[in-house]
Amino acid sequence: MFLAALRESTNSHHRNLESSPLLSALFKPDFDRTAYTLILKKFYGFLLPLEALVYEPALWSGWGLDIERRRKASLLEKDLIYLGCGQYDLGTIPLCRDLPPTGDINMCLGILYVCEGSTLGGQVISKKLSQSLGTGPERGGSYFSGYGSQTVPLWKILCEKIESYAASNESARPMIENAASATFEKMKNWFDKEEV
Ligand code: HEM
Repeated sequence: MFLAALRESTNSHHRNLESSPLLSALFKPDFDRTAYTLILKKFYGFLLPLEALVYEPALWSGWGLDIERRRKASLLEKDLIYLGCGQYDLGTIPLCRDLPPTGDINMCLGILYVCEGSTLGGQVISKKLSQSLGTGPERGGSYFSGYGSQTVPLWKILCEKIESYAASNESARPMIENAASATFEKMKNWFDKEEV
């Protein structure tokens, strides 16, 4: 099964990203709204420009992925506004320019795998945030709440699409794997940068 290989080949990148100082802060006792706001700004700076390239309805027409629904930058905006960020502040958040390559559908599939997979970890983080900061989908926690009860069904749909595409396009497999690894790496680089 290709998905198992994809998971295996990106596992160390996932662990690397998860243990970045920015994200490890989530599980520290002194985690607060300031640290949370920083995390949201960093995700926003990465996902806003990336989504503009990858979550393009025309690219996915006929895939049955409901791609518009899967966009996440607007959730980050909603959370940041809830936390006190004004429209002006949103416009000043630095945007990442060192993004993974998005030149073809295989690259975009690898990126989508990473961005959509983050909704699984998001469920764990969301619980943690509601306990520590009292967030919820309408209280500054909509990004990590993701699709709520629809998270697993939506994830399964994407996995099935990737699996059947990879079954009939064997040569695409390494490209999807490389794109997924590159996405984790670029995100880690971005999270490790001082810039906010
Ligand atoms: C502190 C941060 C994170 C934690 C604690 C975390 C935790 C998890 C957990 C527990 C799963 C497995 C869920 C399951 O099998 O039901 C998972 C899966 C995944 N996460 Fe994360 N995650 C974090 C950050 C991220 C980020 C930032 C990304 C990418 C943007 C990401 C991408 C993925 C992907 C692609 C999968 C799916 C792997 C697969 O089953 O194929 N995660 N994460």
